[in-house]
Amino acid sequence: MEKNIKFPVVDLSKLAGEERNQTMALINDACENWGFFEIVNHGFPHDLMDNVEKMTKEHYKKSMEQKFNDMLKSKGLEKLETEVEDVDWESTFYLRHLPQSNLYDIPDMSDEYRMAMKDFGKRLENLAEDLLDLLCENLGLEKGYLKKVFHGTKGPTFGTKVSNYPPCPKPEMIKGLRAHTDAGGIILLFQDDKVSGLQLLKDGDWIDVPPLNHSIVINLGDQLEVITNGKYKSVMHRVVTQKEGNRMSIASFYNPGNDAEISPASSLASKETEYPSFVFDDYMKLYAGVKFQAKEPRFEAMKNASLVTELNPAAAVETF
Ligand code: OGA
Ligand code: NI
Repeated sequence: MEKNIKFPVVDLSKLAGEERNQTMALINDACENWGFFEIVNHGFPHDLMDNVEKMTKEHYKKSMEQKFNDMLKSKGLEKLETEVEDVDWESTFYLRHLPQSNLYDIPDMSDEYRMAMKDFGKRLENLAEDLLDLLCENLGLEKGYLKKVFHGTKGPTFGTKVSNYPPCPKPEMIKGLRAHTDAGGIILLFQDDKVSGLQLLKDGDWIDVPPLNHSIVINLGDQLEVITNGKYKSVMHRVVTQKEGNRMSIASFYNPGNDAEISPASSLASKETEYPSFVFDDYMKLYAGVKFQAKEPRFEAMKNASLVTELNPAAAVETF
């Protein structure tokens, strides 16, 4: 039988019209069966997105490319004679927006680039919160429920990872980013409009998340899987390298605050709830050492301190 591999694309403008119900159903289906969807007509000015993409590429050339090439040299990655499984072929830097912005601490950003990223970040933050409410509606949770859970005592954590995946002479030898699920809440990704590379794992196959100009790719992190008691899933994804073209991606992570208490929502939990309850920061300490492993042992370990020690001794020392 032919597999249904039509990647879900959601037209957000339809939420205001006659097709609202179908659109909500499409989002629900994507959250249950893909862990991913791509949104269009989200209201972001296209010229802002074009500018962000252009300035990110210029910033890479000016301030990051040399460092990336030095990294290749120091890690012996120029020849790639055997498969490399402990390094990613990527160049990145991080911007934090919440709880406190570090935008003005990042060196080598032009004022223009900083301003564009500030504007873009604020719009992404609002979009993330709107999307969380759409999820609440689909899940039968009261409006604001997820935002409140993520708030903890100091508000959510919101940050952006700016990445470039430079062309790679031997793509079969190394990944741009190894397969993983994201640890946090909801992730909004603005990816290159031409160079592809992002893939997700669905029913045992790696499926491309196709570049679609001015779209934003949404995916769900481990915390939403826990809170929904597994109704929604965080899904494995990876970036493959390409021989041609430098792929840009800007991934923004809307996550719970460090002290937020995460547990399955009571209306979604069953008697034999499979998912643990924990403080978000404890999960992140565990994740730090085992990001590129399956999520199930992480969920299991969060129920049992001795399993945390086994999976990641460094996390256990600080956590328990
Ligand atoms: C990530 C991620 C994908 C990309 O940073 O967690 O999955 O396309 N990024 O950069
Ligand atoms: Ni990811």
